[in-house]
Amino acid sequence: MADEMANITLNGKTFSFPVHSGTEGEKAIDISKLRQQTGYIALDDGFANTGSCESKITYIDGEKGILCYRGIPIEVLAENSTFIETAYLIIYGELPSRKEMSNFSQKVLRNASLHESMLHFFDGGFPFTAHPMAILSSLLNSVGCYYPQMVTNQREQDLEHFDDAAALLLSKVRTIAAMAYRMKNGLPLIYPKRDLGYSQNFLHMMFTEPYHEYYPHDDITKALDLIFLLHADHEQNCSTSTVRMVASSGANLFASVSAGVCALWGPLHGGANQRVIQMLQEIHDSGDDGTKFIEEAKAGKTKLMGFGHRLYKTYDPRAKILRAAAEKVLQVVKLKDPLLDIAQRLEEKARSDSYFIDRNLYPNVDFYSGIILKAIGMPTDMFTVMFAIGRMPGWIAHWREVAEREKGKIIRPRQIYVGSPRRDYVKMRHREGEISSDYESDDHKSYGGGASENAAAKA
Ligand code: CMC
Repeated sequence: MADEMANITLNGKTFSFPVHSGTEGEKAIDISKLRQQTGYIALDDGFANTGSCESKITYIDGEKGILCYRGIPIEVLAENSTFIETAYLIIYGELPSRKEMSNFSQKVLRNASLHESMLHFFDGGFPFTAHPMAILSSLLNSVGCYYPQMVTNQREQDLEHFDDAAALLLSKVRTIAAMAYRMKNGLPLIYPKRDLGYSQNFLHMMFTEPYHEYYPHDDITKALDLIFLLHADHEQNCSTSTVRMVASSGANLFASVSAGVCALWGPLHGGANQRVIQMLQEIHDSGDDGTKFIEEAKAGKTKLMGFGHRLYKTYDPRAKILRAAAEKVLQVVKLKDPLLDIAQRLEEKARSDSYFIDRNLYPNVDFYSGIILKAIGMPTDMFTVMFAIGRMPGWIAHWREVAEREKGKIIRPRQIYVGSPRRDYVKMRHREGEISSDYESDDHKSYGGGASENAAAKA
């Protein structure tokens, strides 16, 4: 029996539903028996008020601007941890011991190369115009084909190989991302090195040339590592919910994270970081100081990309950390970027404008990550890929949480149908002679040929 019950009265009859509490005091009415008891379902466009699961991974208090991975505030991790250590924390629930960390890092490193036959994908498998998110999603699913024991779609067996699959995906997402960039730009593929850390190895695979070994400044490696760390999980966002939904059907980890990449690609989610830079560039090129753009956003003609969040009704804590990191990186690269000036002006204007204040629209993580990525030379179409690399630990941890659920229900929401009831429609149209009973349309008949003639003969 729950401590608290919620009553819903429908047509004079009252029904009681248990209330669940989270460890941070969040409350939820458990309506899983609502339809069974009342015949009604809950309707919640965009799931803004729907808890789809109970989870132990991440906690967000959007009103207070709090984000914790496994109970630890993001600021503490940003200050003291690395992406790979944080990935371990998110996936396994605890910070690793020295030995665990060393084993985990070694496993990630050992999996950095791709099977040689996968390299053919980068040799004509995709056009140069392919977006790297499309390549990433396809190849994350393909990579599973090389490890059939990990992609059986049989829960117990896939879970048995979970540790290997997790390290493998964390590693290969980085290699695939770098190789997608090299292929698109006609550059030779660069292999990972055994003596480099996670983010440094990624930068090496991205930017080393046959005639010039790329050694990033420590502050640049740290900034990229920080971006990955800050993106590592964000509870039930669009892509993570997608991963959980795919996982709930029994699909393996590789298929599930591949779907997550597709969901992340959209401009209202991970694709926003790419759009922020495009927006700043357009404002810059048009000679606007941001005033005109803000007015257009207020009039609903456009959106201030990198602003607003479904959960945060104050400054996104990740944006706060990245704002400071952006300033540092710009000093290191000695870049006076006019786009940063525009970004700061936009932020000042938006934060003193009642439209944005009344709607609690603050900069989100994508507002400043784009500035950093641009400063370190990352091409704009790779920005969302950076988000995907960072989000991989979260997707992996959520897949496991779904796979380990005792009841293991498939996620399958309901709907309210608002189309027309048309039970007699087809018969009526036939009676009226307006549609043919054959698959063949008049257009096809005019071409003649075998299929049409056969169909005509049959008729
Ligand atoms: N610029 C101008 N107006 C905005 C913006 C914006 N960026 N975001 C929200 N609004 C307005 C919106 O028009 C609505 O106004 P009204 O009440 O007059 O109709 C009000 O604010 C509430 O917005 P909403 O669209 O109902 O809020 P939501 O929770 O459904 O959407 C969001 C959240 C992130 C999709 C939205 O704020 C947005 O499109 N932002 C820009 C894209 C962006 O930066 N996305 C990255 C999110 S952070 C990374 C991640 O976790 O995915």
